[in-house]
Amino acid sequence: MELINPDIERYSEAHTDAPNALLEKLRKETYAHVERPHMQVGALEGAFLRMLVRLVGARRVLEIGMFTGYSALCMAEGLPDNGELVTCEVDPKVEEVARRYFAESPHGKKIHIRMGPALDTLATLKGPLDLVFIDADKVNYPRYYDAVFPLVRSGGLIVGDNAFRDGRILDPKTQDDLGMAAFNEKVARDPRVERVLVPLRDGVMVARKR
Ligand SMILES: C[S@@+](CC[C@H](N)C(=O)[O-])C[C@H]1O[C@@H](n2cnc3c(N)ncnc32)[C@H](O)[C@@H]1O
Repeated sequence: MELINPDIERYSEAHTDAPNALLEKLRKETYAHVERPHMQVGALEGAFLRMLVRLVGARRVLEIGMFTGYSALCMAEGLPDNGELVTCEVDPKVEEVARRYFAESPHGKKIHIRMGPALDTLATLKGPLDLVFIDADKVNYPRYYDAVFPLVRSGGLIVGDNAFRDGRILDPKTQDDLGMAAFNEKVARDPRVERVLVPLRDGVMVARKR
């Protein structure tokens, strides 16, 4: 389902900070050589994530679902020099691509890749975290939310991508769609957070811990 009018999307991109040359190269390589390239957040959401990182003054960020590293690089660009971003991934094919691009970026030294199922990695992490970006297997979103919540500082953000599931969220049937619906409901009913479900790209849930 086309959620956003493509002309409006192009207009928004044209009036948003453009991605740098490295991000653009990563976008092109991902679309040319990697399966399911549309999983990449892209220029508009990437700029939004970088902005969120700056707005909360983040120093410690966690990403669940790295893929070829586009969103990780965008968020790392928003971090100060002493900032760090831990990113979780299971697929070694995309890890190889991400590592090359992190090595090329002046912000790559802030990024630490943790390979293996994200729930296992989360069990080893300590807080406080300023921002968590959830963008991996949708069925586990509610578990990711519960696992990271105690690690996020007061005033920190938990951001969940693909809240709309291409529109299927209105009638969820698959395990992934049902997982996302459960996540959206969990966040919507959680008195410990303020939240906005932003209709950006495939829907971005932004929850701020009180
Ligand atoms: C939607 S993509 C992430 C896109 C990325 N944020 C970007 O903008 O380029 C989801 C990624 O999560 C990874 N993934 C899926 N299940 C996972 C798990 N249990 N633990 C860690 N990573 C997982 C997939 O291999 C895939 O690369």
